[in-house]
Amino acid sequence: MQDTPHVPRFKFQPAAHTTWRGLSDIARFRPNTRPVEMLTEPVILRKIRQQPVALITDATATQKALFRHSSLFPKADVQQKLAYVAFGESLSGTTGAQNANQRQIMRQLLHSILGPSLQQVVQEATEDAITGWLQAGRINLSLALPELVLQVAWATLFGPGSYEGRDHDVLETAKRLDQADRGDFRGNAEVLRDLIQRFIDRRRWERLPHTNPFRHITNPDPVSQTGLTQSELLANAAGLAGSGHVTTGLTLAWALWLLGQCGTMQERLHERLKQAPNGTSAASLLALTNETMRLFPPATETMRRADYPLTIAGTRIEPGTLLIFSIYGLHRSPRYWSEPDAFKPERFLEASSLPPSGAFIPFSGGASGCLGAAIAREELRLILTEILKRITIRVSPGMAASVGLTAGVCLYPNQPLYAEVAAN
Ligand code: HEM
Repeated sequence: MQDTPHVPRFKFQPAAHTTWRGLSDIARFRPNTRPVEMLTEPVILRKIRQQPVALITDATATQKALFRHSSLFPKADVQQKLAYVAFGESLSGTTGAQNANQRQIMRQLLHSILGPSLQQVVQEATEDAITGWLQAGRINLSLALPELVLQVAWATLFGPGSYEGRDHDVLETAKRLDQADRGDFRGNAEVLRDLIQRFIDRRRWERLPHTNPFRHITNPDPVSQTGLTQSELLANAAGLAGSGHVTTGLTLAWALWLLGQCGTMQERLHERLKQAPNGTSAASLLALTNETMRLFPPATETMRRADYPLTIAGTRIEPGTLLIFSIYGLHRSPRYWSEPDAFKPERFLEASSLPPSGAFIPFSGGASGCLGAAIAREELRLILTEILKRITIRVSPGMAASVGLTAGVCLYPNQPLYAEVAAN
């Protein structure tokens, strides 16, 4: 098996031919084509329905607006409203003091999950999943991995902290999401809200520790105990499941699909995991997941509102402009990466081939950046370690060649990612 896997890409075409019917198209990461100028120009200025818009693929400006001066470039209204309509008062759908309060409470919760109990849940859930995969011999990675991540989330975030075997409600939810319209933000949120309702109906919240805010999800007056209202708790429960599971699940699916086309690289990883389960193998796995998220960033774009002027390579962007940072465009730009469409995890192991900060931003950043980045990274490492210790994945080059990309609530493959699995 040769080590040059098929890497699908969006089509690029002139900006003048790229049709955005409205801003919410961009907030849903649609359409499936990107303006070709984004590979050469640091910023493209347009007006969409009278709203000035700047499409940015400049690493310096991205670093400045998203990370260094994030308070001057707050979350964009259209992104926030879309989340509000879908999830309600979750931290993605709110702004200002309410948002800051929710972020602080949820950050503490996510921090408390990292550690030995997450490791144990991942080990048990992954072992269960692998047993099923080996029986089947052939699996759909883009369904199986999001499902595994949702099982882990169910047992850690919303469960008693221990895994009780594959859960029927979780399996059904993962299947429903896999079959849902990729661009239907509201419909996808509905499915997740159903799952939270079952969590409530089955009284799983009773077994949560008192420190977990979701313990108070059914309490009519939980404010004094958690700092969040009941509707905020419900919205954030569904919001966390939504933000965390397809993103992490599809990153795992793409990583295994790429490795399944790279026999030599996979063998090398198996060897490393056998010899040094926590040392050099951790660096190799980090490089693998970074390169996967570079090529297939789960969120292809993120947005901010310019409350302050921003100058990008000599072009002044006026306050009031909607800033769209193209994560996909930054990650595939020939200005920052050699062979941008090639799968080369080793580029993340060599300091000399690393791009400027701001050119690699899978989790976005700053005051509205991903709240689960640390937990996602830990899950990616733990789940890949368990899988690669136990099984070998093979993807037929013929099948791989027909896979393309679809933009929607996040970035998806346009067809199931099938793979053969066998015990090591
Ligand atoms: C590979 C996995 C993941 C990736 C690539 C990812 C990426 C992102 C990105 C790009 C954003 C948008 C930030 C912005 O608006 O600029 C985001 C938001 C968010 N993510 Fe993640 N994420 C991942 C996993 C997770 C996990 C596991 C959790 C929680 C357990 C999580 C929780 C959140 C939350 C709560 C937000 C909303 C922040 C807000 O709107 O203020 N994410 N994520």
